[in-house]
Amino acid sequence: MSRHLLLFFCILISQTLSIPLKSSYHTVDPVANALQYDAFFKKFMPQPITTQERQQLVQLTQTVANKNRARSERSLVPVIIIPSLIGNIMEARLDDAEYVHWYCYDNSDWYTIFLNNWQFCFSENFQLKFENGSYISSRRGVTTRPPHWGSTQSCDFLDEAKTLPVWSDINNILRNASYVDGVNLRAAPYDWRFGPEGLNEWYEATRRLFEESYEKNSAPAAAVSLSMGGPYFVQFLQTVSQEWKDKYVRSFTSLSGAFGGSSFAISALALPPDNGQYGSLSAIVQNLARTWGSIPYLLPSTDVFRDKVFVSVGKVNYTIEDFPRLFNDSGVPASVTDAWKRVRSLQNLSKKPPGVKTNCVYGYGLDTQASFDRVDFKSTATPSTEDGDTTCLREALESCQDWKTKQKEPVILYPIFNMTHGGAVTNVDAIKIFLSEIELL
Ligand SMILES: *[C@@H]1O[C@H](CO)[C@@H](O)[C@H](O)[C@H]1NC(C)=O
Ligand SMILES: *[C@@H]1O[C@H](CO)[C@@H](O)[C@H](O)[C@H]1NC(C)=O
Ligand SMILES: *[C@@H]1O[C@H](CO)[C@@H](O)[C@H](O)[C@H]1NC(C)=O
Ligand SMILES: *[C@@H]1O[C@H](CO)[C@@H](O)[C@H](O)[C@H]1NC(C)=O
Ligand SMILES: *[C@@H]1O[C@H](CO)[C@@H](O)[C@H](O)[C@H]1NC(C)=O
Ligand SMILES: *[C@@H]1O[C@H](CO)[C@@H](O)[C@H](O)[C@H]1NC(C)=O
Repeated sequence: MSRHLLLFFCILISQTLSIPLKSSYHTVDPVANALQYDAFFKKFMPQPITTQERQQLVQLTQTVANKNRARSERSLVPVIIIPSLIGNIMEARLDDAEYVHWYCYDNSDWYTIFLNNWQFCFSENFQLKFENGSYISSRRGVTTRPPHWGSTQSCDFLDEAKTLPVWSDINNILRNASYVDGVNLRAAPYDWRFGPEGLNEWYEATRRLFEESYEKNSAPAAAVSLSMGGPYFVQFLQTVSQEWKDKYVRSFTSLSGAFGGSSFAISALALPPDNGQYGSLSAIVQNLARTWGSIPYLLPSTDVFRDKVFVSVGKVNYTIEDFPRLFNDSGVPASVTDAWKRVRSLQNLSKKPPGVKTNCVYGYGLDTQASFDRVDFKSTATPSTEDGDTTCLREALESCQDWKTKQKEPVILYPIFNMTHGGAVTNVDAIKIFLSEIELL
């Protein structure tokens, strides 16, 4: 039977029985399947750890559990997790969705859309477009949401099969120390495809989450974020008063906070796709990423890098100010330039102190792509590297030190040698810093 005929029957049967977007015997959507093997995923998510690292984590779990066994729920510091880019589960629902291909579904109840291979038209359903001043789904009739608001189920693992862990190691430690999901251990997942300018509802919901946590636990919560969750939390903190922060936020621990952006965002958006070999993405993932507002926001910021040359093509040098020309010259859709121009004014984080006690935990000592020097826009060449955590350059990661002189609350930097960007959530030293912050160690 031909592939198309097979697909046709799958759809016919599952539409008739209203089985949402699943096929039980082969991967239907090649884009969905490509994502977890893409450079993008590797740059931002924790990678499998060694047996020795696993043992260290188990040992730490036991030590912390023994030390805190006798503590009452009341005496624990409430924790609120702020996930990262691609760092929490996403779901979609289809209501008479616009026609794009004959094999795409029109209607479906909520289903897991990100990292779910068993679906049709992932790419079409997961793209955004910019219209009338805000991002909306590029296919009419598609609604998306981050499920499990307030619960660690949103970000322990990224997939239903629980093969792609993010926060599960840290949360195991907390739960073994008698933390309870939904009571004193919460998470604030968001639609990480949006830039920070499109997350007003999330800011509002996050504010309520801290207030609710305070009411339940009679104590301010300790926020902990990974990667882009750091900058997004700092943006959130600009929307509340100092009085509010003093009452509801005990402290902010940022793991691998992408405060000055990442040069990876340049190659992800503007350089020819190469499956990660020379620092870019695969073509299908690049097409998707170019429709999101978060990736332009993650471009390096002038705050940190001033007039650094990030890309040279032939005799032309491109600094941050030259990004519009870089995008135009490399054939990136104009919407990316527009998106960047809109979020740029939000990138100047060094001028926006969090106004709460801040622990800035980040890795260094690893080769991190810094600049790209190429003959022309079609060619590839290994980027030159500088010190960083493999995803963000060290200057960007440690730019949180600028807040030291701008707020009275302490800002403490914890550089960790050889810690990768996504690896912060499995790194014993990083985890211990947070455990000390919440008085479990
Ligand atoms: C965008 O704005 C135009 C003009 O105000 C309007 O005609 C159009 O329907 C709007 N589109 C959406 C999706 O709201
Ligand atoms: C306690 O930690 C172990 C791993 O060390 C984990 O397997 C287990 O699920 C944890 N317990 C809870 C309640 O999370
Ligand atoms: C481009 O930048 C490099 C250093 O990054 C510099 O040596 C070179 O002279 C610059 N070229 C032009 C045309 O500005
Ligand atoms: C964009 O590139 C085209 C050629 O590809 C050129 O004609 C045009 O002037 C450029 N626009 C800007 C704003 O650089
Ligand atoms: C930087 O941030 C401040 C404070 O939020 C804002 O008022 C200003 O417009 C921003 N400046 C630039 C150049 O982005
Ligand atoms: C850095 O980490 C890697 C992977 O965990 C490990 O193989 C390597 O030995 C470490 N390097 C140093 C110098 O500690």
